[in-house]
Amino acid sequence: MRVFVAGASGAIGTRLIPQLVERSHEVIGTATSPASADRVRQLGAKPVKLDLLDPRAVRKSVLGAAPDAIVHEATALANAKFTRNLDKPFVVTNRLRTEGTDALIAAGREAGTSRFVAQSFASYRGIREGGMVKTEDDPLDPNPPATMRESWAAMNHLEKAVTDFGGIVLRYGVFYGDESDGLIKPVRKRQFPIIGDGGGMLSWIHLDDAAAATVLALEHEGPAIYNIVDDEPAPVREWLPVLAESLGAKPPRHFPRWLARLVAGEAAAMLGTEARGASNAKAKRELGWEPRHPSWRQGFRAVYATGRAGKTRGSQPTGRTVHSAT
Ligand SMILES: NC(=O)c1ccc[n+]([C@@H]2O[C@H](COP(=O)([O-])OP(=O)(O)OC[C@H]3O[C@@H](n4cnc5c(N)ncnc54)[C@H](OP(=O)(O)O)[C@@H]3O)[C@@H](O)[C@H]2O)c1
Repeated sequence: MRVFVAGASGAIGTRLIPQLVERSHEVIGTATSPASADRVRQLGAKPVKLDLLDPRAVRKSVLGAAPDAIVHEATALANAKFTRNLDKPFVVTNRLRTEGTDALIAAGREAGTSRFVAQSFASYRGIREGGMVKTEDDPLDPNPPATMRESWAAMNHLEKAVTDFGGIVLRYGVFYGDESDGLIKPVRKRQFPIIGDGGGMLSWIHLDDAAAATVLALEHEGPAIYNIVDDEPAPVREWLPVLAESLGAKPPRHFPRWLARLVAGEAAAMLGTEARGASNAKAKRELGWEPRHPSWRQGFRAVYATGRAGKTRGSQPTGRTVHSAT
């Protein structure tokens, strides 16, 4: 298959390209800078310079590539600074998820592209009622904190646009497995506390496993939504001490909920105490995918304690169902 990867040079894109190439797919990968283009080329894809927020350029690029499939992995989170207003660091990412998705889909339609796979997010999004682990059939949180609503709306927009096209939405867990992982610094500095009883759930995913699931999704018929998360959704009070220990950091601090709300805002307090995790049963069942890192418990130690973060790129899809590349 000829695969056009938007966001090929990012944390997930760089794990995905080698796996696609290994499966004999021809990969065209977007880059916004010469350095990113070099990275994409070295991994075995053909780089194309593209700003996804320029719809005319997207059209030209996609028509030029005439891909069988498009994968949308573009975000703008590399220098994100998290504040009380959680929508703020996501402003550009939200545009990539709305305008970027729309431009790619419009161009894909014109180019005769039949498959579309796009990145979304699983953790935190389930309705804060009932069970602590949600499937794709459970409702999403209809009432997220005010400071997260724009990001929620952008993900909802992406998911609707992609499934309307007949494509596949991958709701990834929180990525780990790279030196750029967002929680390394705050956890080392003890800036990420356990709030209240630490009962808010989170679902993790190792980047190599996320990439493997993406390859399988690309070879699968849509429309569909899959949670791509590991086997062990867990409350903050369980995973955070293990992460701190794996990083050689001091144990996390504890904050009462009222104090966290005051200092970090309602969204942080909600995430730390009420958020729901996600189930990967559907992805395992329908994509035949099995994570090689089934739990963050062993995964954190494997990648951080041994200093191996970022050194496992290029491992293969681990699905039971092996489809031939076309
Ligand atoms: N599920 C999750 O937990 C999740 C999801 C996403 C990101 N993250 C985390 O966020 C951090 C940063 O992610 P990242 O390394 O992937 O970097 P990033 O800055 O989010 O970039 C991701 C990709 O999007 C591309 N991109 C950005 N703006 C674009 C635009 N206007 N047009 C076209 N492409 C554009 C980038 O291309 P260039 O490099 O060429 O600019 C890059 O290939 C990492 O720690 C990552 O793990 C986590």
